[in-house]
Amino acid sequence: MITTKKIIDMKGKEPIVMITAYDYPTAKIANESGAEIILVGDSLGNVILGYDSTIPVTMEDMLIHVKAVRRGAPDAFIVGDMPFLSYEVSVEKAVENAGLLLKAGANAVKLEGGEEYSETIRQIVRAGIPVMGHLGFTPQSVNLLGGHRVQGKTQESREKLLKDAKALEEAGCFAIVLELVIESVAKEITDSVNIPTIGIGAGRYCDGQVLVFHDVVGLSEVNLKFAKRYANTYEVMSDAVKKYREEVKSKLFPDEKNIFE
Ligand code: KIV
Repeated sequence: MITTKKIIDMKGKEPIVMITAYDYPTAKIANESGAEIILVGDSLGNVILGYDSTIPVTMEDMLIHVKAVRRGAPDAFIVGDMPFLSYEVSVEKAVENAGLLLKAGANAVKLEGGEEYSETIRQIVRAGIPVMGHLGFTPQSVNLLGGHRVQGKTQESREKLLKDAKALEEAGCFAIVLELVIESVAKEITDSVNIPTIGIGAGRYCDGQVLVFHDVVGLSEVNLKFAKRYANTYEVMSDAVKKYREEVKSKLFPDEKNIFE
């Protein structure tokens, strides 16, 4: 059984594997792969619900998907994302919403942001809920950041990322996701904190990696530079559905094997 202590102990010894899952079948596949962490990411907004950002994702959406993932992966270490506006309004609301994600089946929660969320993180941790931080490109702030921009390119951005990473560690985070961060800065952050960094588009020197399930299996329409497709499931599924249609039209399906007598 994976615990936050085991995840922290893996830093510098063994790469940590995290992958997203959103429902029963993807959770089952992710769990059977042996990945240490399953993230029910608010990327479900783009990947599953067809929105163009994560901003419309609600707590209700997250609770439904965390419950489905828990059913598909009964013994996995599951991190549930805190969606936009579930933790920004007040510390009390943040603790309450983090608790709801745990009640739905998550082992920990993830929230986006740096030093400005130190007190929120402290109070969630005080309530007994492990918190994973998320720095670099933070998708819920896409409007403020002006698009999917790689972070850490300027001295100011580098210093802010380092300061934020230290603040998250001090506030009690057990790990930090670094998204779209230049490799040298991701390495510097990884070397300067005692908790693991888990990168996505943050290069080779993080303590672990995270990818979106649909990018790994080739089910998403986009082919991202920082991700890797290990299969073309879109093509496999599309061919299967076309074949089914053709067989119904040509009366090849159902045949004698599919009937009840
Ligand atoms: O929502 C998500 O899937 C994430 C990962 C990209 C880290 O936050």
